[in-house]
Amino acid sequence: MPRTRREFLRLASVAPFAVPALRASGESGVVSVSLEATEVWTSVGDRAALVYTFNRQVPGPVIEARAGDEVRIVFRNSLSEPSNLHFHGLHVPSTGSADNIMLEAEPGGTIEYRFTIPVDHPSGTFWYHPHIHGSAARQVSRGLAGAFLIRNEADSVPEIEAAPQAILVLQDFAIDASGRVIEPTQMEKMAGREGSLITLSGMDRPTLQMNKGGWLRLRFINASASRFYRLQVEDHSMLQIATDGGLVPVIEPREELLISPGERAEVMIRGDREAGDYRLLNLPYSRGAMGTVNGLDYQKVEVARIRYIEPSVDSWDLPERLRDPQILGAPSVRRTMQLGGGMGSMGGGMAMGGGMAFTINGRTFNENRVDARGTLGAVEEWEFINSTAMDHPMHIHTDPFQVIDPSTGAPIPVWKDTLLVKAGSRTRVRMALRDYSGLRMFHCHILDHEDLGMMGTLYANPSE
Ligand code: C2O
Ligand code: CU
Ligand code: CU
Repeated sequence: MPRTRREFLRLASVAPFAVPALRASGESGVVSVSLEATEVWTSVGDRAALVYTFNRQVPGPVIEARAGDEVRIVFRNSLSEPSNLHFHGLHVPSTGSADNIMLEAEPGGTIEYRFTIPVDHPSGTFWYHPHIHGSAARQVSRGLAGAFLIRNEADSVPEIEAAPQAILVLQDFAIDASGRVIEPTQMEKMAGREGSLITLSGMDRPTLQMNKGGWLRLRFINASASRFYRLQVEDHSMLQIATDGGLVPVIEPREELLISPGERAEVMIRGDREAGDYRLLNLPYSRGAMGTVNGLDYQKVEVARIRYIEPSVDSWDLPERLRDPQILGAPSVRRTMQLGGGMGSMGGGMAMGGGMAFTINGRTFNENRVDARGTLGAVEEWEFINSTAMDHPMHIHTDPFQVIDPSTGAPIPVWKDTLLVKAGSRTRVRMALRDYSGLRMFHCHILDHEDLGMMGTLYANPSE
């Protein structure tokens, strides 16, 4: 990229959105952050609510690190229940004091996380949230989530970097008239709890500004425990530039964008319409028989507004290719992951006290059991078979994967870490186990399903 092109792109542009967040990025190659989980009264959208916060804010602060940086996070648990952190989508060790979800801080306790972002880590939109089996849905749905951005000069695209950006953490809250969180019923847990208050980076229907003629970059993170978002911008198409694992090789125009829990998507919007306001809409989506407990699912609702402002600027074109496509080779290991469960599974039934469980290959999560043993360096292909009546967005820790195109049998050169496996469908994914030996998790990112057992372990052995 010649210097002059970079400079040409540094145009006057507005800040689209004041994200109430602290950006922690050190010049010295070390990013030091303190995060305290605490239950406080704060504003969620326009409401006062008693929720779980990182550093007394919803969502938590934006953490930003560059490839090669060392990250040090002092996590303090001021909740009255055990908690911890997971760094969703980052390719860092899953053991020791890195992204180790087996670490737990008791109330009043602390954990010091420390890891290095690999120098070849892709740029992208990642996130952090607690990961305590049995309470993940409660803690995340009460507000504990934040964006974790990685920057890497090696894959940055100046035409994208020059655009104003909004980091949009999608959350939903079930809050009663007094501002307290409503406990979900058993049925709601089975479906996956949802709340009727939708916020984008803590705001209820924010107005995002953009220059007429210019570009706006939206970086979405679905940090809801269970809610899916099916987004559309009135009169504009969204140009998708990135997904979970950073840039896609070629821009994909989208009229709508479905983002299931845990997934991320980045889009560019060009301000080439009449001056005015345009709504960002969330469209109805049914995620399966039990998955629509909330009336909102059957309405189109405005979740934000995009407003053109003066001055109008000359926009520039985006490059056709954003990244060289990489394709994983043939797998040496194949596995099948049969997704099951729901009401009355495990032979028990509601009458026998609970009886709600979600399973992978017929088993609920057991942290002391290794469900799959792999070897570093190997390419694995997994088939998720969803024989339930509900959608399950499946997530794998530590290494990203590529989805197999069913028509060709070849991997699609896009890096994902969370993938919607629709009710009654099957999908294959391929991944290479790289760099980090030890125990990793995979699970449904409808966090009530994870809490109810739909999680397994993979142990990666060092290569011989
Ligand atoms: Cu975002 Cu194991 O999850
Ligand atoms: Cu994760
Ligand atoms: Cu699920």
